[in-house]
Amino acid sequence: MSLDDLYRQNILDHYQNPRNWGTLEQPDASAEDSNPLCGDRIRMDLRIKDGRVEDLKFSGEGCSISRAAASMLSEEVIGKTLEEVKALNRDDVLELLGIELGPVRLKCALLALKTLKVGVYGLQGWKEEDES
Ligand code: FES
Repeated sequence: MSLDDLYRQNILDHYQNPRNWGTLEQPDASAEDSNPLCGDRIRMDLRIKDGRVEDLKFSGEGCSISRAAASMLSEEVIGKTLEEVKALNRDDVLELLGIELGPVRLKCALLALKTLKVGVYGLQGWKEEDES
């Protein structure tokens, strides 16, 4: 099996068994965003303690790439400081996914990161950056 196959299998696994799926009761931050190309939406709820992401849950509708990216990102983000979350960028998400993506699938891949940043910026009043 090639490395590409392994990455694809991992994406399928995260799509079928998304980690940190669901919602949080009374989250410290919550954000919802959509992919303008298809209308799919992702919501992220965050629990913040002492400047760190203590817990994160996500929900919504999305394709395999968007849901897998959200699942992988959720594992990556729990335990990180808000500054570390702020520093995450598209390359980090693409590295997690590990496969080549065209421009349309790139929007899918970055939906979770965009949503996460909206949540974190909302919490701290940071200016939103364009991640696409
Ligand atoms: Fe909608 Fe990928 S097709 S997020």
